[in-house]
Amino acid sequence: MLLQIPDVLSAEQVAFCRQKIAHADWVDGRVTAGHQSARAKDNEQLPESHPVAQELGEMIVQALQASPLFMAAALPAKVFPPLFNRYRGGQSFGTHVDNAIRQITGTPYRLRTDLSATLFLAEPEEYQGGELVIEDTYGVHQVKLPAGHLVLYPATSLHHVQPVTDGARIASFFWIQSMVRDDGQRTLLFDLDLAIQRISTDVPGHPAAVQLTGVYHNLLRRWAEV
Ligand code: NI
Repeated sequence: MLLQIPDVLSAEQVAFCRQKIAHADWVDGRVTAGHQSARAKDNEQLPESHPVAQELGEMIVQALQASPLFMAAALPAKVFPPLFNRYRGGQSFGTHVDNAIRQITGTPYRLRTDLSATLFLAEPEEYQGGELVIEDTYGVHQVKLPAGHLVLYPATSLHHVQPVTDGARIASFFWIQSMVRDDGQRTLLFDLDLAIQRISTDVPGHPAAVQLTGVYHNLLRRWAEV
């Protein structure tokens, strides 16, 4: 499932991020790339240990937890501490698949990347190019969202970032280990969740809503690892 989640951050939160990031020290983005993706990657990142990355990362994780759409779609077990990148002057990231397992730096903890997320921190009109291009079995999707909006997609997907030919593309990116590893099962649960919410709104008190909620939880019990 490829899902766009609008307004994860408010305009004020985006402005706060941009102001903090503007004064931070950036490094070559290959620091967090695997062997294969290091050849394709050409951008800048905030170091994972940078206090600004940690402060803004915590703000983003809190915003995610407050987003019912994110929680329903991702069913998160663990969220990788958000990272920050910047592309400018023709920089791009060629086609790759994200590493399956990521160590959380400075900790003994690892995370399986079931979902990849990009949270846009620059407005589309601030830069030329920079589309996130995601390939899945339904075809090729080009994603370039307003600042504060997030795209969530299966980490199994091939993807790349088009060259940024003018301006700067600033974003946060991270991965999620879901309680439900399989994208197909997770998508079914999300569709069922949306249908239950709709029936509960359109026909309040309908007994089918309780029955369907039971089905939802019994499927979750069958498929979830916590
Ligand atoms: Ni990637």
